[in-house]
Order: sequence, then C-alpha cells, then structure tokens
Amino acid sequence: MEDSRVNNTLSVEYVESKLEDFLSDLNSNIRISMLSFNQADKERMKYLFVKLKISVKDTLRELQVHNRENYEFLCGLCDKKIFIELGNANVWDSLQTHEHFEQLYVDFLTARLQLDSESDMAMASDSNTDSSIEQPEKEPSGNASGTLSTSVQGSSSSRLDKADVNNFRFNFPLEKNHSEIKNKIYPSNLMTYVRSYDRVQDFTIQRAGPMRASCLICPCEMNGIRVSKFILANHAMGQKHMKAASNPEVLKILQNFHLSWLKEETNIQAHQVFFRPKTFNHLTCLLCHNSLEGKDLKAHIKGDKHKKNVLDLVEKNNPNYLANLQIEVYGITQEKVQLNGKEARPGRRFIPTRRKSTKPLELDTREDSPEPEVHNIIKAVNDMSSVDLLKLLPNRMKNDLQFLEMVIKGKQSSINCRLCDCTIPEDLRALMAHLAASILHIQQRNQKYTYFCEICNVRINSEQSWIQHDFGGPRHKSMAESRKLRVTEYECTTCNAVIFGDELSLTRHVAGTRKRGKKEAKRLPVGVMALFKSKQAILSEADRLVAETEELVALNSMRECCADLERSLNEVFEQCKVYPFGSRISGIGNKDSDLDVFVDVGDMYLGLQLQDPPDQVQLIRRAAKAFRNMKVYTELVQITTARTPILRLYHKPTEIACDLSFRHGLSVENTKFLRLCLELQPVVKQCILLLKRWVGFIGFEKVITYAFALMAIFYLQTNHYLPSVATVRKMSKGEPLVIGGWKTISNCPPVGEIRGCVKTYPDTVDVLLKEFFAYYGKFDFNNYVVCPLVGYTVQKSKFMEDNGRQLPAEMEPYLQQLENAEYELFRANAFMCIQDPFDLSHNLTKAAQRGTVQKFQTMCALTLKFLEGGNA
Ligand code: UTP
Ligand code: MG
Repeated sequence: MEDSRVNNTLSVEYVESKLEDFLSDLNSNIRISMLSFNQADKERMKYLFVKLKISVKDTLRELQVHNRENYEFLCGLCDKKIFIELGNANVWDSLQTHEHFEQLYVDFLTARLQLDSESDMAMASDSNTDSSIEQPEKEPSGNASGTLSTSVQGSSSSRLDKADVNNFRFNFPLEKNHSEIKNKIYPSNLMTYVRSYDRVQDFTIQRAGPMRASCLICPCEMNGIRVSKFILANHAMGQKHMKAASNPEVLKILQNFHLSWLKEETNIQAHQVFFRPKTFNHLTCLLCHNSLEGKDLKAHIKGDKHKKNVLDLVEKNNPNYLANLQIEVYGITQEKVQLNGKEARPGRRFIPTRRKSTKPLELDTREDSPEPEVHNIIKAVNDMSSVDLLKLLPNRMKNDLQFLEMVIKGKQSSINCRLCDCTIPEDLRALMAHLAASILHIQQRNQKYTYFCEICNVRINSEQSWIQHDFGGPRHKSMAESRKLRVTEYECTTCNAVIFGDELSLTRHVAGTRKRGKKEAKRLPVGVMALFKSKQAILSEADRLVAETEELVALNSMRECCADLERSLNEVFEQCKVYPFGSRISGIGNKDSDLDVFVDVGDMYLGLQLQDPPDQVQLIRRAAKAFRNMKVYTELVQITTARTPILRLYHKPTEIACDLSFRHGLSVENTKFLRLCLELQPVVKQCILLLKRWVGFIGFEKVITYAFALMAIFYLQTNHYLPSVATVRKMSKGEPLVIGGWKTISNCPPVGEIRGCVKTYPDTVDVLLKEFFAYYGKFDFNNYVVCPLVGYTVQKSKFMEDNGRQLPAEMEPYLQQLENAEYELFRANAFMCIQDPFDLSHNLTKAAQRGTVQKFQTMCALTLKFLEGGNA
C-alpha cells in the first residue's frame, strides 16, 4: 500500500487495478452471489450500492467526463468506433448512418422490455437518490442532447442478452445544472411554486439575482427592488405566461434552451443568465445584443466582446448570483476583477471602479467650492450574491438585524422579529414590508429617506410606497436589455436618498443636488424686463404676436406641407391621411413653431390598432426609409424612445420643420380643446403668446409650450372664465369619441352656446399676466395637481392612496384604465403635476426637476414684482 502511493496520492496503477478487480468481482461473483441473499441482506446491499452509485457519480463529475468535447461510440457488432463531435446538431442522425445501428437498437429495446420489471424495483429503491447514472433520462431526440451512451463496449454477438443491454443503452446522464447554479437561479422552492401555476416541467423562470428574474417563455423581466415568490407567482398566473406555457412550440424552444446549457461546463452554464431563448436553435445574448446558434455558445462566451461586457458588470458588482463562476471562464477571480481589472480586459485599460459596494462614492459637487461636498453613495445591498435573506436587506435597514432571527422548523423557515414579537414569512419583500410599516422599527431607525426611481423619474417619500413601486412597470420594461442588467438600488448616505438606476443616475443625483445647492438666480433676465417694461409695451407686443399667428394661418404653406406629406406617405402606406395639430393649429404658433402631424395609415385615429411601441417604431422606420429618397425632405431624425415615437423632418419647399407621429388622434382632439378656449376667451391667446416669449428668455427644462398653455387655461378655469373639460362634456349631446380609452369633447356644442356659460374676462392681458404669475408663484406644487379636466386642483395624495378611489368622479376613465394590463399610473410623485385634460394618466411635467420648479416659481414672483412696479 505504502509503495503504491506517490506523494500521499494513490498511483494511477493502484486505482486502476483496484477498480478493475472490483468490477470483475462484481460482474463474475458478487452479482451472482447476491441473487441467493435473503431479503434483509439484499436490502443491506441495496443501501451500499446506492452509496456506491452516489460516489461514482461524484467521481465522474470530478473527472469531468461529461465535459468531453466528443462522443465516442463502439458498435456492438463490428467493433467499429464512431466519433461524434459535441457541437454536431444531430447525434442521433449521425449514429443512424452506421449499418448495424438499427439492429442493435431493436435488440436493445426488446431486451429492455424484459428488464422493465427489474428496473422498476431498482427505481423504487432509488427514489430518494439521483438515478441519473443508471436510469435512461430521455430518448434522444433529433438534437444532440448529450443523452447517448458514450460506450457500446463488449459483446459482438448479434443478439443482446440481459448483460448486453447495459452495453447499449441511452444511459449517459444528462448533464445537470451545477448545484450552485441550480440553488441560486433555479431554487427549488421558487420553481415548484411557479410550476404549480404553469405546470411546465422545464424551468420557465430564471432568477439571476435578488433583484432580477426573467421569464424564459413570455419573455418578461421581473426586475424589482426585491424579487419575491409572490412576484413570480403573480407573473406565472398571468394570461401571457399561461398562454406561452400552453404553446408546444414555445416549450420546445424552452427545452432546447436548457439543453443547450446542460451540455456545457459549469462555468459556461453560469452565463445563461445573460441569454434568452429566441427560436429553436437560436439564443439572444442580452449583453452583446447578438443572436447566435446554440452550438456557437461557448465560442461567443469566450469571445472578447462578451468577456468585456461580463467583466464590466462584475467590476461594478451588479446584482448577479453567478459572477464568480462566470469569470472562471476567463481564468480570473472576482476579487481580482473588482480590485484590479487591468489584466482582465481585452484590448483596453481596466479602470478600477470608485463605486463599489463597500467603498463610498466620493464625488465633488461644487465647481468653485474649496471644500467639495462628498456624496457617500453605496450599493443598497452589499452582497448581491448572497442567498441569505437577512444579508439582502438594504444598508438602511441594517440596524434592524439585531431584532431578527431565522427560525427553522422542519422544512419550514420563517423570521422572528423580537422587537415586534411577531413571525414573518421567509420572503424578502414581506420582511421589508414589515420593517417599513412597523412603527417600532421606524422609530428606532430614526432616519427619513427619500426615494427616487430614475427609470420612471418618480420620487417617493416613504419606504412603504417604495416597496410597492412598480419596478416592472412600462418604463422598466422598455429599458434596453443591457441597461436592465446594470440598474440596481443605491443609497446616498449623505443625502439620505435611495436611488434606483445605473451609474449615470448617480452622476445625475450629484449634479441635481449641486443645482439645488447653488444660489437660485435672483434677477430677471433683461429680455423679460424689456418685454414687460410697460403696460403699453405688453399690449403692443401681444397685438404683434396675435397678428403673426393670424398671418401664419392665412399662409398656404401649412396646407402645402400637409398635402406633400400625404402624397409622399401614400406611396408607402395605402389610404394614409394626415392630421395637423399643435400650436400652429390651436393658434399659438409662430413661424419658428414646428408643424405637428398625426399620420393615420388606416383606421388608427381611435387608437385601436398598431399602438404598441414596436409597431410604432416600425411605421416610423418605413416612413423614414421612403422620405430618405425624396429630395424635398431633409434632416430626418427618428425619435423612437419617446412616449409617442416621432419622425422629425424638414420640408424644404415650405421651410417648415415637422414632427410626424403615427399613434392616434388624441392630440388632434386636445388641440381642438385649446382652440376652443382661445376662441372663448381671446385674452388667453395673448397671454400664452407672451408666456412663450417669457419662457424663451428664461428657459425651463422639460416644460413644453402645451403645458404652459394649459396652465394659463387652468387659471382661467378656476375663476370660471373658461369651462372645464368636464363642463364642456356635460353640455354635449351624445357620447364623445373615445381615443385610446380616453374621452374627448368631439361632439361639443358650438362656441356661442358654451360662451353663455362662462364669464368674460374683464381686464387686459397685462392684468391676466400678473394674476398668472401671482397664482403660480405661490402654487403648492408639492401637494396639488393642476387638472384642466375638472377645472380645480386635486390633491396628489388622492392619486396615490386608496387606489385612486378618492379622485373626482370625472376621473373614472383613469380608474378604469388602471384595470388594463398595460396601465399607466399618473406620476403624482413628480415635482410638478399638470394633468393632460384627456389622457388622465399623463403628467405633462413629470420630467421637470425640483430646480426647474423652484426656478419657475422664483421667476413668477420676480416677474410679478416687476409688473407691479417694484424692482426685480
Ligand atoms: P409641442 O410640444 O410641439 O407644442 O406639442 P406646441 O403646442 O406645438 O408648441 P410649439 O411647437 O412649441 O410652438 C404639440 C402638441 O402635441 C400634443 C398637444 O396637442 C400639443 O399641442 N401633446 C404634446 C400632447 O398631447 N401631449 C404631450 O405631452 C405633448
Ligand atoms: Mg409644435
């Protein structure tokens, strides 16, 4: 024994001889002898053989026999070797080309039938163990799935006896998901839960990290603040998922997706979180935006582009459970990538990140300040790869850990909270909900955070609402796949802010606070002072502006431009019709205004078809392609990421810039409402035109002309100088057009009739301007929404609480819309809320930042002071 050891290790010869002795004993003596054992002894033997089987399985895994590059078969009749490369798409077909294959297979099947009863018994005893080594997993299908035996050794007789059956069977075990992969991304508790809804055998949902899960059949992302069992179940019981789960084609693609990975080595398998099934043979790489065949997986993963993308994510410590295994492919450790990635990157320097979970982000925030403000920005969760629930609590809740303990009773585990003396299910969302709601925990934390989702541009004031924020909402869904992988939750401990976004969001956070820190401008621009220098100046400028808009309408150029557009578009889309809208139509445009045009390519006015973003983008691409070949159109720009995708172009003959949209006629209808208001109360037209000039001198980011126009209209509504949309509707006979689910005022009575219901504004525009600036300079944007639908302000809280049930009855269409699968919440958390009069989900100023609102109100106050004769 001593002699056979080399450096404390058994020599190859020794192991070989022992194994061969055992095998030969097993086949010649042991198995025969065991037949005569009594039942009790047989049971003892069964136990030992099961143990042996487990050891053999582990040994095989250690030897990595499954990761072989090729399959090798030996014909039982002619002893000829058959080699098949692993990448070969059809192992089964390749085997069938061999002349003896059919005969051997028939014999094998016949003999197997006789053995079935014996194998049933063996399976019964194996029920608690993994039987993959001995039991045939699946018959091989047309694709190379790694399920074929690797050796057809032994008998060369034409008939297979029972012993020979073992020499030609489909028993090569399916390569399993590595246990780490399985436990982390396909954890059995979650998978069983999902399976209880969709009943699909293969895993339909994959969890890539604590905050990221994806459905492999819909496909949908369930990115969120915490991915819980309930989120997954919610998805799995949804119609979309159920429909996909009952489609055999989809399931075939899913099965092939899993098989593509199962035949790869463990560290290659770990990359599956970056891939989605596409078609039967193709997968999509989310990181590299590539579609590739299953057989090219390994090469793609080892390629430079994928490597760079993966290392980027690992370097930034993105929420990914399998990072350690993924980078093993490149022969580097996770620590090395995060600490010093220089060697890890192909082709360029690997700059160590300043923003790691453990190290605070230190950014200078004041350009001129000698002592820059430092923002300590950390990842909300330090160890994203942890499967320990308590370790996944965000840093701001770390103090709560002292009161929490995991309690395991049998197979069930839960969390005991000593502070509140209660038990919480083992679910991160449930735990966070408890910590966020419990007054005892809130008191002991004694810190108030603000929450910001950069993706939705939404600010939230409480942890409870933050947990309920829809991290799978439309904005999140529409993110590019590669961005979805990069977003995560950060905390700025300097500002007590929680930010959900990517690294750019942090830069914006820092820049945003810098803006806040800066002194707000305290002086009116000279242009504004000149514009409003006297009542006379205001009135004559108002007259000039109105005359300009009237000239514009009288000119034929808009009609000429629309006719040209319609002619050109009809070459691409049959029966296409164009509808101009926007300021040039409502009467508040000038020669610099663009011409907004809705293009109806056939029955789209009511928004009943081709509304999805991909359809919209498709229409824009088709139109752009056609315009590219026409000389009269230049400066084509496709804006496909906007809420309503737009094709921007310049019509040379009329020198008009156009924004073409292809969605529905709602904007055409809201332009009619603006026009109606301007006709009812002409002073509002002067007011809006002067406001446009005022805005031009100051500049307010993310507040469009349409929003300013509605603000002016709303002010007059509050004093009954203009009717609310709801009032106009009440005066109408019959039902109005409904577009995209929103009521319009298409059947409103004539202007004369409506005019009878509103007071005439008694003063000139200079007075109205003063009132406007006084009203909005003090408007409580923190708590109220400007609602031209009803003509009075509505508390923000009514949009956020009690599922909107406290909202005015006129907003019923909004509540109905929330029932739809593709619903959109009104962004009541924004700094400034102006509700669209028809599309009640749309906050026209949701993108305006705190600084913009402050600047607007400061400027309103200063302008008012100036108009009142004070010094501004
Ligand atoms: P614009 O932003 O082009 O504004 O929106 P405008 O009123 O034409 O003003 P200019 O171009 O700055 O002179 C055009 C129209 O698009 C619709 C409104 O009908 C608006 O008048 N719109 C715009 C919406 O319905 N919702 C929006 O969020 C934005
Ligand atoms: Mg416009």
